[in-house]
Amino acid sequence: MEKIIITLDGYSSCGKSTLAKQMARALNYIFIDSGAMYRAITLYFIENGIDYLDDAAVKAALTKIHLAFDYNASTGSSDILLNGRNVENDIREMRISQLVSDVAANQYVREFGVAQQQQMGLQKGIVMDGRDIGTTVFPQAELKIFVTADPSIRVARRYLELSAKNPGITKEEVQANLAMRDEIDSNRTFSPLRKAADAIVLDNSHLTREEQLTTALQWANEKITAMSVR
Ligand code: DC
Repeated sequence: MEKIIITLDGYSSCGKSTLAKQMARALNYIFIDSGAMYRAITLYFIENGIDYLDDAAVKAALTKIHLAFDYNASTGSSDILLNGRNVENDIREMRISQLVSDVAANQYVREFGVAQQQQMGLQKGIVMDGRDIGTTVFPQAELKIFVTADPSIRVARRYLELSAKNPGITKEEVQANLAMRDEIDSNRTFSPLRKAADAIVLDNSHLTREEQLTTALQWANEKITAMSVR
């Protein structure tokens, strides 16, 4: 069977990573969470006092950052390594969520992220989720999905997920963070969040995880079959 590239883009907390992970497992493809890469860069900037507005400092810092993914058998997914250190948990903290959209809007950070993501897709057989994957990283991808959900549903889901790790967090804080990230991600100059013209919209507001997986896998299998009989 031919292998394809599958992209999932959309706003924060639409369930893109969950779906991408499940699709990769079902298809025996590699799953890449591109947001984790921008989060790890943000963690490096915080720990090393790098100002994301200082292009010279950003460029110098990027030469010292090595990102890799390491399979974690207990979660069935890959953890991100920042210069060899597993930072999968650290990058989910609120201090990272507060800053990551600003860091990810920097031109040099974007060039760094996009180049590495394109390398990862050279062999195909990959499911990557993010904001600009179907538009900038893999404009030639065979299947592009644009995931959406009602804002109130996104806030409720994210609050549930975050309150387990951050007991003091309020729904208002989660809502403000999502609104801020949506705004920055959609309006930045380099690779803004956009639906690719040839992406299929998947609104999962009222779908269970199983239902959305079934739909997305059906689209994927149609594409794979069409590629293989050509
Ligand atoms: O998917 P996430 O919420 O973990 O992503 C964190 C941030 O990284 C998000 O607010 C915007 C940025 N991002 C990006 O600019 N481009 C991507 N391909 C993925 C994420």
